[in-house]
Amino acid sequence: MGTPAKQGAPVTLSIDGIDVTVPEGTSVMRAAAEAGVQVPKLCATDSVEAFGSCRLCVVEIEGRRGTPASCTTPVADGMVVRTQSDKVRKIRKGVMELYISDHPLDCLTCGANGDCELQDMAGAVGLRDVRYEAPENGGLANHFTARDTSGEANPQWLPKDDSNPYFSYDPSKCIVCSRCVRACEEVQGTFALTIEGRGFGSRVSPGAAGDDFLSSDCVSCGACVQACPTATLQEKSVIEMGTPQRSVVTTCAYCGVGCSFKAE
Ligand code: FES
Repeated sequence: MGTPAKQGAPVTLSIDGIDVTVPEGTSVMRAAAEAGVQVPKLCATDSVEAFGSCRLCVVEIEGRRGTPASCTTPVADGMVVRTQSDKVRKIRKGVMELYISDHPLDCLTCGANGDCELQDMAGAVGLRDVRYEAPENGGLANHFTARDTSGEANPQWLPKDDSNPYFSYDPSKCIVCSRCVRACEEVQGTFALTIEGRGFGSRVSPGAAGDDFLSSDCVSCGACVQACPTATLQEKSVIEMGTPQRSVVTTCAYCGVGCSFKAE
């Protein structure tokens, strides 16, 4: 939820008309949460450094141009922030529309149905229609690189990677928020994941191009699975048995010790 401020002089600002005092260096998003205001987000979590990639958490700040990401913007004394103006609502809806236009529409049969942050955020921003053509119908092409024999682009979802015995990786559902990559680095210190490609062709990759999870440096700790906001990285037990009624969050999802360190 933006970089937490450890220490610092108190700073008072107004968020949607609510005065809140937080330590200097706190992100606007975290200050908003302190004030009881939840700003929509996809790429920010409590367990990894703010990244500012999804652009869902944009806000308006009086006296400043543009709409900065609240997760990467530090508070300032006297700042006046609006998180629910018409302008930011419209931007968030447009951002979500682009995400959904490039995502399989199989929510009812998806293993993450009911436990998916993308689904939650689409509802939170009030998205009801997507104006752009679905990839299957020749619209935007996300995660597809195939070309037919004549060289014509032939969009198709990249195949699922089921090589890891504990979790699966479905690139078609990836929104490239990089939470898994950052969890792998910052929480686990493994550095097994990276983002490869650019634009619509960008995707999470376990090591060198062509590597699957099993042949990569992945140690199956599960930090990436816990960090994933969609069904891109999913425990196989969840896929087979459905979402459990109760779950416990630990750093190492597959460790039998369960030290109960709360990763997010
Ligand atoms: Fe701030 Fe994604 S949550 S940019």
